Amino acid sequence: SASVKQILESASPVLPVIAIDNLEDAVPLAKALKAGGLTVLEVTLRTDVAFDAIKAMQGVEGITVGAGTVKNVRQLKDLEELGVDFAVSPGSTHELLEAGIESSIPFLPAVSTVSEMIKGLDTGYDCFKFFPASAFGGISALKAFYGPLPELQFCPTGGVSADNFKDYLALPNVICVGGSWVVPKNALKNRDWNHITELARQATGHSVS
Ligand code: 3PG
Repeated sequence: SASVKQILESASPVLPVIAIDNLEDAVPLAKALKAGGLTVLEVTLRTDVAFDAIKAMQGVEGITVGAGTVKNVRQLKDLEELGVDFAVSPGSTHELLEAGIESSIPFLPAVSTVSEMIKGLDTGYDCFKFFPASAFGGISALKAFYGPLPELQFCPTGGVSADNFKDYLALPNVICVGGSWVVPKNALKNRDWNHITELARQATGHSVS
């Protein structure tokens, strides 16, 4: 949908994929990423505190918070109630594609094959997460998709890193990239917010504010 595209276009152009174990880390993490210029965040529903962490981050000014790892329609409904800014799935079941079209939340489904892309396109989507990007051919796969399906835009995620994200972003069908590299597990464990801000700054090219 148009609005998920607008959100991804504002994603600076890296979408941090975050898993939060400790609720008290949510706000300082959002602030650390924002200080480095990353303001559109994906918090995965992989931990017990994910919903509360999203709620906490929604209170940080200038932050757009989406939910990731959405696997079923029930979760999408719960997220509508929570009022998240967008929702991301690692896949694209028929049920999720249909519910995402009806949803009040901009929805980003994921694809890894051309048949899934055509199915999604038929259902009304032209913007997808490409997951897991590096395992499914990475940059050369994206170049190949552009031949038959130049109308599609992708957010490749999975194996995208500080070393290769610029190569992904140079492709005409890449709108932004997603990845966990800007929030390393150890930095989060040590609450090393300065390091996270520095990684964010390197991903955006911004100076630290
Ligand atoms: C995701 O859910 O998008 C991935 O787990 C992120 O992949 P990465 O850890 O390889 O960046």
